[in-house]
Amino acid sequence: KLQNIIEQLAQLRVLPILVTDDVDQAIRCVTTLAQHGLPAVEITLRTPNAMQVLREVVRACPDVTVGAGTILTPAQLDAVKETGAAFGISPGITPVLAKAAAESDLPYFPGVGSASDLMLALEHGFSVVKLFPSDIVGSTKMAKALGGPFPDVRFCLTGGVTVETTPALLQQSNVLCVGGSWMCPANLIQAGDWDAIGKLASAAAAAAKA
Ligand code: 3PG
Repeated sequence: KLQNIIEQLAQLRVLPILVTDDVDQAIRCVTTLAQHGLPAVEITLRTPNAMQVLREVVRACPDVTVGAGTILTPAQLDAVKETGAAFGISPGITPVLAKAAAESDLPYFPGVGSASDLMLALEHGFSVVKLFPSDIVGSTKMAKALGGPFPDVRFCLTGGVTVETTPALLQQSNVLCVGGSWMCPANLIQAGDWDAIGKLASAAAAAAKA
């Protein structure tokens, strides 16, 4: 299961990140992303209603790979699994969460920002990780440097990524994909401007292939 998600991310190379607490807006947004070449999404747990949003999007968009982001605790990991989400992602890593994730059969990507984080991830068997916040911790320079001691690790760069920076970031050989919220800005979601979001998604999908 994890391997299928990794293969899809390797193919798409861009993972949109969606932050919204409204079920209808979430479904419209995810549908629009998929129609414009991005059929995988991370929905964050940063809003009070996030579990219900996840559950409804999973049900309404069966052809989209719907993951959950901002998983901070084992309890959230369990709740995410019950929504039917395809995978989970965290901004960081703790021993407690890494152990729970290793024991869960939910495909999971821990977050790392240092060599120590990465060592903890590897201790629990995770070799595809989110590098966060990518622009702060060094982006491709960091991925390249970590590739020395950890040649088998692959990174999803997230945090501060834009459509402009995407092509260069994806050039780095151990970067699996980039993730970001730029194609789902809150103002466009609020306005229900799905045309504009579709254009941002198409541009992101094109940048990923550039
Ligand atoms: C995340 O959850 O990874 C970040 O919110 C994404 O960062 P961005 O909003 O800068 O794209």
